[in-house]
Amino acid sequence: MIDRIEQIRAEAERAIGAATTLAALEELRVRHLGRKAELPNLLRGVAELPPEQRGAVGRAANEARQALEARIAARGAELEAAELRERLERDRADVTLPGSPAAPIGHLHLLTATRREIEDVFCGLGFEVHEGPEVELATYNFDALNHDPAHPARARTDTFYVSDDVLLRTHTSPMQVRMMQQHPPPIAHIYPGRVYRRDSDATHTPQFHQVEGLAVDVDITLADLKGTLLAFARSIFGDERNVRLRPHFFPFTEPSVEVDVSCFACRGTGAMADGSRCRLCKGTGWIEILGAGMVDPNVFAYVREHGYDPEQVQGFAFGMGIERIAMLRHGIPDLRLFYDNDARFLRQFG
Ligand code: DAH
Repeated sequence: MIDRIEQIRAEAERAIGAATTLAALEELRVRHLGRKAELPNLLRGVAELPPEQRGAVGRAANEARQALEARIAARGAELEAAELRERLERDRADVTLPGSPAAPIGHLHLLTATRREIEDVFCGLGFEVHEGPEVELATYNFDALNHDPAHPARARTDTFYVSDDVLLRTHTSPMQVRMMQQHPPPIAHIYPGRVYRRDSDATHTPQFHQVEGLAVDVDITLADLKGTLLAFARSIFGDERNVRLRPHFFPFTEPSVEVDVSCFACRGTGAMADGSRCRLCKGTGWIEILGAGMVDPNVFAYVREHGYDPEQVQGFAFGMGIERIAMLRHGIPDLRLFYDNDARFLRQFG
């Protein structure tokens, strides 16, 4: 009897070791340990054996059953691990492959692209790019820039105030003062960024973008301003462009000018090839692109102790709207198109 038990055990152990799938292993479990299997039957029959055999046979059969259960569990764990390994191997995904269909990568928003282009032009001319706070002190936004206490832009109907003396900057010009406080002359900087005004129609949004420019040294003149802006205009609007300066007024420059670029739709003639009036420049041959001027001595006086003695230094400043530059260049009729985020509009500038 005991020999038979050992034989069953040896046979079963061999078969379990050779099983290659979990299903085969389960079959072996039923065959050797199931209700109708020989070994459990032997165990059940132990009670009927002569008393002197019961102990030894019972022990041998029990040990054999436990040994087989343990073998099956161990082999099961092995097979499970192997199957998992194989599945992982088979299902391996290369996440670096392009999707199918490949996802579109997208492109820069026209305003970002325009801003970067403007930055590139001025970097090429030796200007540094700096950014400043959009939440600004009224002192920097107005007072230090020589604005009269009664200047209309100070009104709450025109400007977003956070408190009596803190506001959303209405232009990038306050960076002139902030940077002169931090850097002694000579400096040549541009300051791109967002600005805010209480305005909303086809040519005004409450938030828009400007690029400010500032160059200060002992000998900077209006001719430097004109040459710089001519280089800028030619880079952005084409090599044949010219610029002209018209007298204007800004509180923080003296003299102040508005700067026009010769019209690139009619090549500055004001008329189209068919003789009709040019609609872009309204027949004038010129398009206004920005405001500029020589830094007002009162602005230097504000930063005098930082190395800007108005008797010693002079410089130019300018400020332009990025939206305006992009609209002119691409013939965009409505400022709000930049912010509607209609992909059909934006895609044209990819
Ligand atoms: N800050 C002016 C504006 O927002 C633009 C401007 C004009 C900036 C003349 C300048 C300047 O630096 O010299 O309308």
